[in-house]
Amino acid sequence: MELPYAEPYKIKTIEHIHSSTRKQRVEWIKQAKYNLFNLSSDQVFIDLLTDSGTGSMSQEQWSAIMSGDESYAGSRSFLELRDTIRELTGFEYVLPTHQGRAAENVLFSAMIKKGDIIPGNAHFDTTKGHIEFREARAYDCTIDEASNTSAIHPFKGNIDTRKLENAISIYGKERIPMIIVTITCNSTGGQPVSMKNLAEVRSFADKYGIPVFFDSARFAENAYFIQNREAGYHDWSIREITREMFKFADGMTMSSKKDGLVNIGGFIAMNSESLYREASHFNIMFEGFLSYGGMAGRDMAALAVGLREATTFEFLDSRIRQVHYLGEKLAELEIPVQEPFGGHAIFVDAKKFLPGVAHEEYIGQTLAIELYLEAGIRAVEIGTLLADRDPDTRENRYPELELVRLAIPRRVYSRNHMDYIAVALKNIYDRRNDIKKGYRIISEAPIMRHFTVELEPAEDGQKGTR
Ligand code: F0G
Repeated sequence: MELPYAEPYKIKTIEHIHSSTRKQRVEWIKQAKYNLFNLSSDQVFIDLLTDSGTGSMSQEQWSAIMSGDESYAGSRSFLELRDTIRELTGFEYVLPTHQGRAAENVLFSAMIKKGDIIPGNAHFDTTKGHIEFREARAYDCTIDEASNTSAIHPFKGNIDTRKLENAISIYGKERIPMIIVTITCNSTGGQPVSMKNLAEVRSFADKYGIPVFFDSARFAENAYFIQNREAGYHDWSIREITREMFKFADGMTMSSKKDGLVNIGGFIAMNSESLYREASHFNIMFEGFLSYGGMAGRDMAALAVGLREATTFEFLDSRIRQVHYLGEKLAELEIPVQEPFGGHAIFVDAKKFLPGVAHEEYIGQTLAIELYLEAGIRAVEIGTLLADRDPDTRENRYPELELVRLAIPRRVYSRNHMDYIAVALKNIYDRRNDIKKGYRIISEAPIMRHFTVELEPAEDGQKGTR
């Protein structure tokens, strides 16, 4: 018999979590205005809201915390971090930031202006938020297969270079200061981008003299998929693949809360000295001095160790196999999930799951609330609430996919937790035809509304807010 996979670590410290009754959850979600972000964590049994900053650190990371250097300037911990990033990515210049969106803020302050167009593969919401905040626009060039949850394609994060050509012909290259490739592509389901596609984007960009930046939050998971799925890379190590991927970019932004295996942190890395100098001004203004950028020395020390751990096959194999174990369980139960499974999460296709709920009543959010009520599991809607309103027309943008993301924190939950999640979804699936009403918005913010939106159950005859 082939041995099953087992976690390459054992548990030294535990954190208690508490189950609750359905009656309690009915009350709590009502008080939370049907927004799962408003729940306190002790009202949640299994928290799949995000894999960002929610992972467990290793004893080596905790040891590094103790020896972090808190010097304002020239911190040894920064130099260790910079050298690690140089080694893993090949980029010469590194600016630390307090998290990923801060890296976007600093880089975009130096590179994006009003009226610009930023092509890429399904930009993440903070990325799009920082682009739109500058009165520029994100232009989605993801391959069409990405929006079909049952289409089998090994690299559903890929960019369609014909769509890049369209962006040039509609807007002209002068309005395009950069192309952003998100590896893995969170918004299409944690889907990877192939090495071949990274090379194609690079040669396209070279043709027009446009810089390419990788939004690299889950770059190590992307490297694992290349090793696993792309011909020619099976014998390469994760770090060899990582170095090769970054050869196709001019720079990167990073949310270290994912593949940095830390609870907070981020950075920008790049080749261009002049860009580094320009971005440095914004870093000092928004984040902090160049050798800490919003991070404590101890956090940078833990990040340097985390980046090394995250770029090992041993870590990535158990990480991704745990996520896929959940996906396979759900698929066996005939629950509609996006396939092939992505890296950090399983995405449930809420439109297929709840055909009785109208899209004006937020199908994904309805399913996420049901999951909480059923079992105390907190997931997140990736659908109409997240897609927000069109900044020009202020109409709801209805994305092709209404998904519920089950994001799996790194090194946190066991296989029993995965089984529990699968049964909870199966129970809802069995009664899916009884779920016909969704929710309506009672208040929302002008940008990135999903974090703070307030909802109420939609009543019969009452239309959701349009
Ligand atoms: N880019 C990607 C692809 C992300 O997934 C995130 C965060 C960011 C940038 C921003 O980084 O949170 O450190 O400021 N994603 C989290 C998530 C929030 O739940 O997927 P941040």
